[in-house]
Parts: sequence; C-alpha cells; structure tokens
Amino acid sequence: MIVLGLETSCDETGVAVVEDGRIRSNLLSSQTDLHARFGGVVPELASRQHLISLNILLAQALDEAKVSFGDLDGIAVTIGPGLVGALLVGVAAAKSLACVLDVPMIGVNHLEGHVEAAFLERPELEPPVIALIVSGGHTMITALPEHGRFEILGSTIDDAAGEAFDKIARFIGLGFPGGPAIDKLAVGGNPAAYRFPRAMMNDDSYDFSYSGLKTAVIRWIRERNEAGEDIVAEDLAASFQEAIVDVQIAKTLRAAEERGIGTVIVVGGVAANSRLRARMSEEGTKRGLTIVTPSIALCTDNGAMIAAAGMRRLALGESTPFDVSANPNMALA
Ligand code: KG4
Ligand code: ZN
Repeated sequence: MIVLGLETSCDETGVAVVEDGRIRSNLLSSQTDLHARFGGVVPELASRQHLISLNILLAQALDEAKVSFGDLDGIAVTIGPGLVGALLVGVAAAKSLACVLDVPMIGVNHLEGHVEAAFLERPELEPPVIALIVSGGHTMITALPEHGRFEILGSTIDDAAGEAFDKIARFIGLGFPGGPAIDKLAVGGNPAAYRFPRAMMNDDSYDFSYSGLKTAVIRWIRERNEAGEDIVAEDLAASFQEAIVDVQIAKTLRAAEERGIGTVIVVGGVAANSRLRARMSEEGTKRGLTIVTPSIALCTDNGAMIAAAGMRRLALGESTPFDVSANPNMALA
C-alpha cells in the first residue's frame, strides 16, 4: 500500500510518500524564518505559506518517491489538533486529491502521527507501550494498549514543554523556535549550576505544570540582572532544561513501572532534545525498560508520520468522509 501524507497543522508543511512502513520520500518546508521576527507562529502567515509550499512539495515528494498520482492507494492528512486555517489547507488538498484520484482519504490526529513515528522506524515494536508525547502544543503521558487506542494518564495543566522552551528562549534572546537553541547552548553548561522548581514532580499524578518554572526563571534572571550579577548563559540553559527533563523522566518511568509496561516511546518535537533522549535512555535502561526515540527528523512535525498513521487505519478499512472539517481542538481518543 502506498499512502501520501500531508501535514499542515502548524508552521511546517510536510509531504511524504510511505509504502508499507517504508519511507519513500519525506519532504518538509519549514516556515521558521517567516515567523522568527514575530517571535512565534503567526496563524494567517502560516496558512498562506502552506498554500504556496504544498503544491511544490507534492510534486517533489512524488518525484523523489518515484511514484505517480495513480500509484497512490490513499491520502492521509492531519485534521487536528492545530491552527484551524493551517489545517484547512491540508484538508482541502487531501479532499481534492482523494476525490480526483478516487482513493480513500483518512484524517489523522496529529498526536497519533507523532506516536506512529516511533513505530515507523521499528517494525518489530508492538504495543503495549507508554508514550511521552512532548511538543509545542502538548505534553502528555499515555498508555497505548493497542494501536489506535490511547489511555491518557496525565497531561500539562498549563504550558506545554515546547512552549516553555520557546518562551524562555525568547526571553533570553535566542530566537524562535527556542527548543533547539536551548538544547545547543546547554551542551556546554552545568545542569546543576542553578536550581529551578520541578512542579508536581513528586505528586501521585501524571500531570505536568511548566508555567511556574517559566515564571521562576524569568524572575530569577531579572533579580540577577538587577543585582548586577553575571549569569552563565550555558549554565542557565542547562539548568532550565534539566528542570523540564527531570519531571518528564520521573513521571514517564513511573508510569511504565506502575502499569507494568516494558517499553517507553518518547515522541513529538521536544523528543528531539538531546538531554531528554540521553537521560531517558540511560535511566530507563537501568530500570530494565526499552526506550524508543524516533530519529530527530521524525520527532518534529513531518508528513511521514501522518502517512504511516493513516496507512494503519486505511489497512483496517477505515476512511474519513469528505464532509469532515479540520478540528483545531481534536482530542486523542
Ligand atoms: O512537534 P512539533 O514539531 O510541533 C508541534 O506539534 O508543536 O514541536 C515543536 C516544539 C517547539 O516548541 C520546539 O521548540 C520544540 O518542539 N523542540 C525542541 C527541540 N527541537 C524542537 N525542544 C527542545 N529541544 C529540542 N532539541
Ligand atoms: Zn507536532
């Protein structure tokens, strides 16, 4: 089965061709430069840029995959959650293609796509797994008893992890998106140099809270500045990152142990974080767990994960009717 995957939920246009779990092409047009001067994603600009990029990427993705429109067995597209205008560009394109080519369309939940990225590279991997989903818009721990079924154990009660990275990066002048910049800066820093709060780390829930950390870091920087004290930027980045990662590791590994599930997958844009990847692998392995992190390009938004998630559902005979609309607040269920 050959499936086309379209991803336009936020600021990356992704188009991919996946054949039976093998990526034949996976193209991305990032809008980072477009939004950077505004310090965050401007929804209207994102929609317009998707419109421009999509057709170009589509031609390139088919070309690179060495397939033609007639070879496609289905069209998978992100229908939510995300920015409504951005989602609509992908959904309209998917409907048109599916209609003209007379193949099924399948609407994919963006978070299910992130989860699928872990399975795409590991054909031998099977549920049950515990999934830590960490991105710019979401932070949650779910149990996946079987493919397509999600039991949400906990999620953030305020900011998402990626959002915290982006906000602190902006405050210290590192630009947008902030996660990769902080990750890079932190490499040369001491994660124990400064102590920041780890909200909810030792409570019984699997929930997260990152807005207090963000406020604490900003207040701490202001106080240091006012006192005329030097701040070592690398240490600040490493210490802030450590506070985020500590809670993620503690809660995710506890979920795996309490649920008796031996495999943990870490997915979403923040799963590209080098410290999170290294520590989760090390500490998870020590506790006898198997830790799976997709390659970096499959952690951040991409079309291949959407194609793969769509293919799994299409193979079960599912499809989405053409009167479906984008769902910006789509829940994972
Ligand atoms: O999954 P994603 O590409 O888009 C959403 O679904 O939101 O995630 C984007 C988020 C951004 O907040 C970005 O700063 C963060 O992932 N991110 C990182 C890293 N790479 C991307 N955060 C920490 N470390 C990274 N290396
Ligand atoms: Zn995402």
